Amino acid sequence: MIRIKDLSFRYRGSSEYALSRINLEIPPGDFLGIIGSSGAGKSTLSYGINGLVPHHFPGDFYGELTINGLDTITADTETIARQVGSVFQDIDAQMVASVVEDEILFGLENFGVPREEIEERLENALNAAGIAELKTRTIRSLSGGQKQKVAIAAITALRPGIILLDEPTGELDPQSSWNIFTYLKALNDRYGITIIVIEQKIPLLCEFVKRLAVMDKGALILEGDVPAVMRHVDTLKAAGVNIPRVTELGSKFAARSWYYGELPYTLAQGKVMMGQVLSWKQPAQKESPYVAF
Ligand SMILES: Nc1ncnc2c1ncn2[C@@H]1O[C@H](COP(=O)(O)OP(=O)(O)O)[C@@H](O)[C@H]1O
Ligand SMILES: [Mg+2]
Repeated sequence: MIRIKDLSFRYRGSSEYALSRINLEIPPGDFLGIIGSSGAGKSTLSYGINGLVPHHFPGDFYGELTINGLDTITADTETIARQVGSVFQDIDAQMVASVVEDEILFGLENFGVPREEIEERLENALNAAGIAELKTRTIRSLSGGQKQKVAIAAITALRPGIILLDEPTGELDPQSSWNIFTYLKALNDRYGITIIVIEQKIPLLCEFVKRLAVMDKGALILEGDVPAVMRHVDTLKAAGVNIPRVTELGSKFAARSWYYGELPYTLAQGKVMMGQVLSWKQPAQKESPYVAF
């Protein structure tokens, strides 16, 4: 369980607070998406969860953040890292080895994973991330997207209780992004690993996560399961969040009283909504309602 109580943080030398009175609980087994416009404080919140704030980034820290009872202020980052595996936005800063398999092995050995398990975990992680053929490549020779997959494989191979990923698909194509989220979902389902993911691709996120947290100007402005958050179309737009097209369409239908259901946020839900809207007979008209958006 991650408990965040009245957390505020200001980087040293900065006059503005990057985090402002955040209150959030993330239960074990959660799959939480964190969204918000650029500069909203998403990465800073993730640094709070992995202890980089304030241990690596000094500043004014108020409030409390605990991970399974471990206070991130008094715990060292090494101890926190055993609970929270992080995939950073800046992938290059994350890599420690020069060859792909060593990057993954390094973590497994460091974590004291039993020898007989190491090979299996290495192969599983490489396969799941779709980079089996990169095993012996040098990291230097990889593309940004390939490096993202290596970083994800290295962290997921450790199977920590909590995995925190900061825009893990930023350099990946749609298919690879989908595959990564499928893998995260499997880790969440199969091992109960808590997944916290900061992501710009909101439609992708909505297909997979259980809950969303929305940040704006350092504050947490919305939190809840996906439909509960997606209902707040205007608040999301004001915060600079790109809501899924189906949600946008649903809110337009709702505004015209053509649709009364829960706003859709996945393609499948969008199809169901379209079926309902198109089969609905407007009293004064013979034709189905149609408006070009
Ligand atoms: N290392 C840093 N030092 C000083 N200010 C920072 C640092 N990192 C981020 N900030 C500032 O904190 C605010 C939140 O940034 P960030 O957490 O990176 O937002 P996001 O990840 O949502 O884009 C921004 O105003 C940003 O300029
Ligand atoms: Mg960021």
